[in-house]
Amino acid sequence: MTKEEFVLLRDYVYEKSGIHFAENKAYLLESRLSNRLTELGFSNFEDYYYFLKYGGDKVRSEIINLFNAVTTNETSFFRNPPQLDAFKVIVHKCYLQNGIPSMPIRIWCAACSTGEEPYTLVMILLEMMENLKKNIPFSVFGTDISTKALESAKKAHYNMYSIRNMGESIRQKYFVEKDGSFILKENVKKYVKIDFMNLMDTNAYKMYKQMDFIFCRNVLIYFDEKMKKKVIDSLYESLKLRGYLTIGHAESLHNISRAFKPLIFPGTIAYQKG
Ligand SMILES: C[S@@+](CC[C@H](N)C(=O)[O-])C[C@H]1O[C@@H](n2cnc3c(N)ncnc32)[C@H](O)[C@@H]1O
Repeated sequence: MTKEEFVLLRDYVYEKSGIHFAENKAYLLESRLSNRLTELGFSNFEDYYYFLKYGGDKVRSEIINLFNAVTTNETSFFRNPPQLDAFKVIVHKCYLQNGIPSMPIRIWCAACSTGEEPYTLVMILLEMMENLKKNIPFSVFGTDISTKALESAKKAHYNMYSIRNMGESIRQKYFVEKDGSFILKENVKKYVKIDFMNLMDTNAYKMYKQMDFIFCRNVLIYFDEKMKKKVIDSLYESLKLRGYLTIGHAESLHNISRAFKPLIFPGTIAYQKG
């Protein structure tokens, strides 16, 4: 990939997804996109760029392939336990103290990858329901820009690596093991509505309003400051007043937004609207 090709494709990827490849990540963009060249039969990246720019009807489906190629879908069940403990505390204190909430608790995992994050939250709530002998009404939305990751999320067949942080009893309770694969049971799957959503697309947020919790973990790191601000402002609008935002453990709202109230929990921070 020449320097000029890198700039053209980097800007195109940014414009469509908000994902920013810094100059020192040119090798990464090149390796991620080389399969697209092979599959489409192009001999150089410039031809691929012009196809994306002026390829007519075929471009729409190629953009989906492009998103699948440039995204990093690393995730796992029960990732970052302090954030999940904070979630449990908030649900207890704010939603269950005065009895059962009359409206379902609305939870959105805004970059859910292959589904481990939303399904983890469902298992946490199911365990809470069992322990408290209470029925907690809730609904969970899992969205992502990678259709490949979303297909896996819908299938919900996992390998040992994905479930490595999960206790044995939870695994046995909610998964069926078959041929080395861990198949999530329907009683967890049924709570999560999985769909495509591009965080870059301000119109798409209309579908995700009045959320009690938004998990947007480990995706801001792929965006530049401008895109981070845009996404965080839109997520703010998608939350209910006093709703909670959780971002990645290594991510911060410093210089991005002052609109949230940071709430300190052991080993983590949750951000509250209002
Ligand atoms: C590293 S994974 C994080 C998964 C999960 N939230 C977690 O923390 O385990 C980042 C996800 O962000 C998604 N992503 C990147 N850009 C996006 C965008 N513009 N809109 C929606 N999802 C995006 C990727 O497809 C990927 O699945």
